Amino acid sequence: MPLKQLNIQHIRNLASVSLNPLSRINILYGDNGSGKTSVLEAIHFLGLTRSFRGNQFRHLVQEGQAQALVFAQADPMGQGQCRPLGVERSLEGDVRARFAGQNLGATELAGLLPLQVINSDTFDLLDGSPGVRRQFLDWGAFHADPAFIQYWRGFRRALKQRNSLLKCGKIDPRVRKVWDAELIQYAERMTEQRQAYLDCLLPEFEAAMSALLQGLEVRLLFSPGWDQSKGLETVLAESFERDLRQGFTSPGPQRADLRFKVGSLNAADRLSRGQKKLVVSAFRLAQGALYHRLSNRACIYLIDDLPSELDERHCRQFCEFLEASANQCFITCVEPSLLSRIWQPETDVALFRVESGTLTHKGAPGDQT
Ligand SMILES: Nc1ncnc2c1ncn2[C@@H]1O[C@H](COP(=O)(O)OP(=O)(O)OP(=O)(O)O)[C@@H](O)[C@H]1O
Ligand SMILES: [Mg+2]
Repeated sequence: MPLKQLNIQHIRNLASVSLNPLSRINILYGDNGSGKTSVLEAIHFLGLTRSFRGNQFRHLVQEGQAQALVFAQADPMGQGQCRPLGVERSLEGDVRARFAGQNLGATELAGLLPLQVINSDTFDLLDGSPGVRRQFLDWGAFHADPAFIQYWRGFRRALKQRNSLLKCGKIDPRVRKVWDAELIQYAERMTEQRQAYLDCLLPEFEAAMSALLQGLEVRLLFSPGWDQSKGLETVLAESFERDLRQGFTSPGPQRADLRFKVGSLNAADRLSRGQKKLVVSAFRLAQGALYHRLSNRACIYLIDDLPSELDERHCRQFCEFLEASANQCFITCVEPSLLSRIWQPETDVALFRVESGTLTHKGAPGDQT
């Protein structure tokens, strides 16, 4: 279990709260506006130095405060040994992350705590732009092989350079050849890794789907961003005149997409709201299951308002899947009656009541009065 204790300071309405001890399944319940999602944001901040809600860091910091701070006792590698992990960030822009007495860079920190968020924005996996789907895919490709980030960065650099040359409207063919060669090399590596990741993910996705939502066949189709039967060099040469007119490169992994299909239709156009939630959750859970299979490490799931959109049967199936997984879960809900009674007695579950920015540890579900 990655997190054993958590202390949060100056995040939204949470002035200073601690969650101690943490369990494998942690349920946070309370009224609207009490601070449940803020706790999830604090854990996300601990792993990635930012929230999953909005891009503006200043919105996350408690009003009137100059910095946010989250620290934990953590065992991210599952070695049975807890060490201090802390992240602080000020409104001025200073970010500091430390683990076991050592400073960490952003990439090291992201590799330390693999986080998966399931909230209303997760619907974007079906309803949103291809860019959102690429992020989901790239999360997995990065965690499956950290070298992915180098290919990704190399590709972005080459693409930016090529696009700025295209914008000038004239390119020396020798310069173009150099940048094309670099772009193609990174594009191919990146795409191989995306494809390899997806191949490994598919059986996990099918398993999660059959646990969460029986009787619905959802197919995942990867489109790499160009016609692979021709090769990227040919495709770039064919689209060069058009790209020059447009001022940017059209084909390539920056156009990759992951399509979710039900029959011949896009899942976004075909499924009900609850079905969509279960499909995007199955995808997220499959990513965690694959991550665990490849690295033997657990993910941290931040699941905001798990029961919303779901009937009792599907809610139970969702929880059973979490229970059988290795993940550490932080689950919020307004009304705890269902989520406090559906776990097996041997599952390590803790309930926390959230009230106006304060947290009370209510023990295991059976301890409730
Ligand atoms: N920067 C901030 N400083 C102080 N308080 C804030 C800040 N940003 C938001 N809040 C307040 O923090 C509270 C907690 O918000 P949060 O979204 O965590 O509630 P919640 O328990 O998830 O509610 P819901 O059930 O409606 O989703 C809200 O009352 C909100 O108005
Ligand atoms: Mg909320």
